[in-house]
Amino acid sequence: MVRDENQFTPLSEQTPTELRPDASIDQVAAIEYWSTQTSDVDGMLGGYPQVSRIDLQGSANFLAKLCTRSKEHPKTKRLGRVVDCGAGIGRVTLGFLYKVAEIIDIVEPVEKFTKEIKGGYSFRELREEGRLGDVYTQGLESWTPSRSYDMIWHQWCLSQLTDAQVAECLQRLKQFLRSGGWMIVKENITTHSLGNDVYDETDSSVTRTDEKLRALFKKAGLKIVATELQRGFPKILYSVRMYALQPDVVSNPSP
Ligand SMILES: C[S@@+](CC[C@H](N)C(=O)[O-])C[C@H]1O[C@@H](n2cnc3c(N)ncnc32)[C@H](O)[C@@H]1O
Repeated sequence: MVRDENQFTPLSEQTPTELRPDASIDQVAAIEYWSTQTSDVDGMLGGYPQVSRIDLQGSANFLAKLCTRSKEHPKTKRLGRVVDCGAGIGRVTLGFLYKVAEIIDIVEPVEKFTKEIKGGYSFRELREEGRLGDVYTQGLESWTPSRSYDMIWHQWCLSQLTDAQVAECLQRLKQFLRSGGWMIVKENITTHSLGNDVYDETDSSVTRTDEKLRALFKKAGLKIVATELQRGFPKILYSVRMYALQPDVVSNPSP
C-alpha cells in the first residue's frame, strides 16, 4: 500500500520479531483488513488516490523502455497474455495493463474485489471484449498458474508475503514466463537508516529494503534486467521501485 515512511522503531528498542519483521505477517488478518477497505482507488492506495495517475504513467514508461530493447515484445505490438497479481479492484489493469496487453488474468485473495471485477461496471468493457481472462480469488502464496504469460505484474502485494513465500512464489511463477517475458515487481522500499525491513500492523505487511528484495530475487533464480525508482510521488511516502526480472537460466515455460 502507499505509505508514509515516518514510522519505525530504532534498532535498540526492537524485539526479536522486529529483527525478522516478516515473522509477524498474519495473512488472515491481512485479508480481514483488505476486506474492510472500500472498492475504489482510495481504498487501494491507503488514502493517497492522487498518486495513482503518476504511478500508472511511471509503469507505462518503464514497460515502454523494456519493449524498446526487446526482440520478442516490440513497442508496436500488445503483449499477448499478462497477469495482475494482488490486483485489488484491478486499478493497474484498468489504468495501464489493458492498453498494453490483449488478455489480462487477475489474482486477488479478497472476494469482494474479485466479485467487482467479475461482475461490476468498471470491468464491463474488458469482459465484453473477451479481454478479461481468468480471475483467481487466491493469495499468491498458493497460486499456481495454469498457463504461461508474457508479463507477470506484482504491485504493492509481495509485502503481504513472508520472505520465504516471496522467494518460493517467484520461483514457482517464473516457470510460467514466456520467452522474453518479464516478471515485474513494483513495491515500496524502506530506506530505514538501520537497514531493516519494517512491519506494518495496519495491513500485516512488510516493507523491505532494496537489498532484501534483490536477495529474494536471487534466491528465486531471477536476474534484474532493469530497475528504476518511481518518480513524482510526495516526499512523505516511501520510495517505490520497479524491477523487471527474468529467469537467470532460460528454460522452456510450462503450458
Ligand atoms: C495496496 S493493495 C494494491 C492493489 C493493486 N496491486 C494496486 O496497485 O492497486 C494490496 C492488495 O494486495 C492484496 N493481498 C493481500 N494479501 C495478499 C496475498 N497473500 N497475495 C496476494 N495479494 C494479497 C490485498 O487484498 C490488496 O488487494
